[in-house]
Amino acid sequence: MVARLYDSRKKILVTGGAGFLGSHLVDRLLQQGHEVLCADNLFTGTKRNIEHLHSHARFEFIRHDITFPLFVEVDEIYNLACPASPIQYQHDPVQTTKTSVHGAINMLGLAKRLKCRILQASTSEVYGDPAVHPQTEDYWGHVNPIGPRSCYDEGKRCAETLFFDYHRQHALQIKVARIFNTYGPRMHMADGRVVSNFIVQALKGEPITLYGDGNQTRSFCYVDDLIDGLVKLMESPASFTGPVNLGNPTEFTMRELAQLVIAETKSSSKFITQPLPPDDPKQRKPDISLASKHLEWSPKIDLAKGLMPTVAFFRSIVG
Ligand SMILES: NC(=O)c1ccc[n+]([C@@H]2O[C@H](COP(=O)([O-])OP(=O)(O)OC[C@H]3O[C@@H](n4cnc5c(N)ncnc54)[C@H](O)[C@@H]3O)[C@@H](O)[C@H]2O)c1
Repeated sequence: MVARLYDSRKKILVTGGAGFLGSHLVDRLLQQGHEVLCADNLFTGTKRNIEHLHSHARFEFIRHDITFPLFVEVDEIYNLACPASPIQYQHDPVQTTKTSVHGAINMLGLAKRLKCRILQASTSEVYGDPAVHPQTEDYWGHVNPIGPRSCYDEGKRCAETLFFDYHRQHALQIKVARIFNTYGPRMHMADGRVVSNFIVQALKGEPITLYGDGNQTRSFCYVDDLIDGLVKLMESPASFTGPVNLGNPTEFTMRELAQLVIAETKSSSKFITQPLPPDDPKQRKPDISLASKHLEWSPKIDLAKGLMPTVAFFRSIVG
């Protein structure tokens, strides 16, 4: 990728930049020639995700919890900090809500002071267990406010509210991305997400766990496609705030995913079944018409292709 000219170089804050998506975003922004400040408390992120940037002249890391104010000078903010898988966000649910809500207030306050653009990594979980398929951005969702997933779902919903109130009240330039299931290298190995679970089970030759009958569907977006979408959204005209769905609309059943993983890993693992966890959505699929219209964005990498580097990554870390 061609580096930008110096005069278009920005200083960009990425919260959660040591996490799965954040570290890929940091790589992309550095490739584009920007300076990147990564703020992360390393709750679910790791230094390993950014260790290749250790001596990069335009990269800086600060260990910081975004539930506390941050005073830095930047031109743009991507707010990704938040544990993203049920095992991790349910570990300390109060902190999860604080990260989404206090974290959003702190980052929005920073953006207001700096008069800079800010992008929120929201989630398809704002739709809850949706009653309409596929989900369009004007669907308000079907969310349990008091269940074990609520700290994440309602925290992210409240963060969206704050973004739009700062936009209306303070004319802040905001961008809200509703991210659907994304996978790729640097995913967490043991966070209970289906892609990493299946790959690790297959590589270890352990049985692959299907919940329910294995016919519930999900859509999976490869990380490079998702990062393209986030960057395009940040660079889109000020009038386009989102919320905008970013994800891959092609649906796979859990059983189909398991079969693709078995093929890619050449594993001899068999399937076992377990009951569905509470509040687990049966189906989730983005309608990406808005992203396609306003950002000219759609995913390019299909599941079989994206599984190759993902399996290679897990092969390198599974002992
Ligand atoms: N990966 C997905 O499929 C997906 C889907 C929807 C939304 N998202 C959103 O994208 C963002 C990134 O997700 P991810 O998959 O990379 O998860 P991740 O857990 O790998 O990354 C999150 C990062 O935020 C950091 N963090 C958590 N709490 C923090 C705090 N209080 N202060 C500072 N840093 C904190 C973690 O240490 C980690 O590095 C999250 O906001 C998540 O909700 C991800």
